[in-house]
Amino acid sequence: MHVHITGIAGFLGSHLADALIARGHRVSGNDTLVGGYRDNVPAAATFHEVDCCDLEAMDRCLEGVDVVVHTAAAAYEGLSVFSPVLITQNNVQASVATFTAAVRRGVRRVVYCSSMSRYGDNPVPFREDMPVLPRDPYAISKVAAEDLLVNLAETHGLEWCIAIPHNIIGARQKYDDPFRNVASIMANLMLQGRQPIIYGDGEQKRCFSPVQDVVDGLARLTVDAGMHELVVNVGPDADEAFITINELAKRVAVAVGFEGLAPQYVDPRPCEVRLAHCSAERARERLGYAPKRTLDEALGDIVAWIRERGPRPFTYHLPVEIRSAQTPRTWTDRLF
Ligand SMILES: NC(=O)c1ccc[n+]([C@@H]2O[C@H](COP(=O)([O-])OP(=O)(O)OC[C@H]3O[C@@H](n4cnc5c(N)ncnc54)[C@H](O)[C@@H]3O)[C@@H](O)[C@H]2O)c1
Repeated sequence: MHVHITGIAGFLGSHLADALIARGHRVSGNDTLVGGYRDNVPAAATFHEVDCCDLEAMDRCLEGVDVVVHTAAAAYEGLSVFSPVLITQNNVQASVATFTAAVRRGVRRVVYCSSMSRYGDNPVPFREDMPVLPRDPYAISKVAAEDLLVNLAETHGLEWCIAIPHNIIGARQKYDDPFRNVASIMANLMLQGRQPIIYGDGEQKRCFSPVQDVVDGLARLTVDAGMHELVVNVGPDADEAFITINELAKRVAVAVGFEGLAPQYVDPRPCEVRLAHCSAERARERLGYAPKRTLDEALGDIVAWIRERGPRPFTYHLPVEIRSAQTPRTWTDRLF
């Protein structure tokens, strides 16, 4: 099968590419490299440096493709409150162009990576049949792309799947990016002998998923028969995976061997939800989802990978479109 992965230089896209190549599939992908690394792309994959917003270029990329997995996104929830144009262009415009090219090329199936942010303030654990309650521009953009996919796929006769990963962790996440990826940011800081920075009181809870476990589920959505009209959370619902950001800092410190942990606390970010945690019931039933790696193993992977490449200073590579009293000081004063 020929699978095309948008965002293939990114964290999730590159791991999925490896998994599909290992299963004997032909893989191609495109990326703008704004949020990924070129050397994340497996050598066996065909790479196009193409922006998903470019319909004609996407049309050329998708010639002969059976399945498209759309992972490309500006995956910046916190930043989206202050850079809504950047986020909307790369999440809505980029998605609709990708889906349109897929329709034009007669692609059989499109798998879209949405986000748990779609559930907003619903009670945890989030289940797929709950109403969507997006509460920031990132979540709104992810839900808009979901709606566009369902509409275009149903009108033009494509199979569609929507995967909803949790906070994914592991090697290859952009770690010199001050705008997202909390575990990688903490590891990069501590490996430089610096204290982590935490928004709010650090008691907000998240459910961290090792990337290998998410990729197993995504690979099945991509190539297994009968995956259609399916919305599915892909991530753990075990209590041990559901931890506070304060606890995460402690676990990263252990993985790094960082002594004297004393996080710096800054103002909470507007729109950040307190609890985010999904039910994995449907994933178990439909994808045979069974997590194999622990949180501490995944943190160990992050630390080993950053050590190998070398800790790096943070680069403020994205525009902050709205600067107000609410804009986090971490970005305006470049605290990372
Ligand atoms: N990482 C997580 O915790 C998480 C959780 C839930 C959902 N997701 C979703 O999973 C997907 C992958 O996330 P990730 O963590 O791998 O992010 P990532 O930033 O590592 O990968 C996304 C890739 O898309 C590329 N990209 C961005 N805009 C593009 C465009 N217009 N055209 C082409 N390429 C473009 C980036 O350069 C990057 O390499 C995203 O859709 C994200 O919303 C991620």
